Amino acid sequence: MKLDILLGLQWGDEGKGKIVDVLTPQYEVIARFQGGPNAGHSLEFNGIKHVLHTIPSGIFHENTLNIVGNGVVIDPVIFRKEIIALDNLNVNARKNLRISRKAHLILPTHRLLDAASEAAKGQAKIGSTLKGIGPTYMDKTGRNGLRVGDIMQANFMDKYRFLANKHEEMLGHFNFEYNLSELEPDFLEGIEFLRSFIQIDSEYDVNDALKRGKKVLAEGAQGSLLDIDFGSYPFVTSSNTISAGACTGLGVAPGRIGEVLGIFKAYCTRVGSGPFPTELHDETGEEIRRIGREFGATTGRPRRCGWIDLPALKYSILINGVTQLIMTKADVLSGFETVKVCTAYNINGELTDRFPYDYDESRMTPVYEELPGWNEDLTGIRQESDFPKNLKDYISYLETKLEVRISIVSVGPDRDQTIIR
Ligand code: GDP
Ligand code: IMO
Ligand code: MG
Repeated sequence: MKLDILLGLQWGDEGKGKIVDVLTPQYEVIARFQGGPNAGHSLEFNGIKHVLHTIPSGIFHENTLNIVGNGVVIDPVIFRKEIIALDNLNVNARKNLRISRKAHLILPTHRLLDAASEAAKGQAKIGSTLKGIGPTYMDKTGRNGLRVGDIMQANFMDKYRFLANKHEEMLGHFNFEYNLSELEPDFLEGIEFLRSFIQIDSEYDVNDALKRGKKVLAEGAQGSLLDIDFGSYPFVTSSNTISAGACTGLGVAPGRIGEVLGIFKAYCTRVGSGPFPTELHDETGEEIRRIGREFGATTGRPRRCGWIDLPALKYSILINGVTQLIMTKADVLSGFETVKVCTAYNINGELTDRFPYDYDESRMTPVYEELPGWNEDLTGIRQESDFPKNLKDYISYLETKLEVRISIVSVGPDRDQTIIR
């Protein structure tokens, strides 16, 4: 079997959690491969809305194994809270969850360093979720990090203290007040809690599953435009969010990759700082935010909203090798007289549909095509034949421009509001 990957093609929050949950019955294993609790993946069924940060979105299906891969960074405090929230819903995550020993740990001092670094940047801040993601990946690549497997070793506390001391020295270089002793009890409680979960060398488990003909889906976090190499640097996250990240984040060879499911919203959002050429600063943007309930699942921050950006989407499709597209939130666009689509950027009088190195919205003007909108409420529709004509035309238009088939259209947050084409 080959490993399928589902990942976001924009700036995150495309609806990955919902769609992974919908697709889980087709898979025996769901595995997260990068990112950490900066992610907030929402899913809804039977009137319950749930947000996951670290745990894969297959956890609500009893017969599916969920793996947190080596490429993920784990905050034991948040992890514990997530598990308790699942316990309260009578979901026994202990049974179906495995964690890679090689996944790195987010320490309280990583969170402090994230906050101190952002504060020092002032106006130029990344708009980080302040979950300690950047500093943790820095320690990973700097070969200083602590891994999940370390918590089982007798000298874990010494290792922890050594790294935390180093971080405190670093914090001394910032003009930043903090109280580590207030944060440590929760962290240590989280570590103790984490010890009771099954740790694995996930590269063996994932490859064994594939070898035995089991279907495995890798669940991405964030989105391709937040990728550390290809995103709108420096306004990105600190991991490879693209399909290649699934190879390094799970230990699966490139030749083993099967379908790459790229998910995008029928429009575009971004949370945090950074360029967003098609952002709407007007009433239309407000309307999209209101109707689409565009507020961050992790931080609650209002998401910036704008029209769909085809050059950026094409770029994401290219670097991910997307084989199928999934469009979410089509329902949110109901009622707009026209729907705009950015087809190119005008940079100094020249038109381009490439994602430029200097991705700076002040020097690029989006070029739009305007398509007729639709008024019908889509949220009750369950088959494609009931789609309004203008939505059908919008879908065909996007497929032609993007040169990839849209295989799923989502018309609401619930599991049931999903149309497989
Ligand atoms: P993720 O990070 O990619 O998993 O996405 P988030 O969960 O952060 O954000 C997506 C939001 O949109 C969540 O509140 C979902 O419940 C919701 N959502 C997902 N698909 C749809 C859809 O098709 N229509 C509407 N209206 N909401 C959706
Ligand atoms: P999901 O998986 C949307 C953004 C932050 C910030 C930048 C860097 O739910 O789609 P970080 O905390 O990683 O250092 O923040 O990336 N960001 C996300 N935006 N969805 C996410 O995850 C995000 N994870 C990080 O807002 O701009
Ligand atoms: Mg999210």
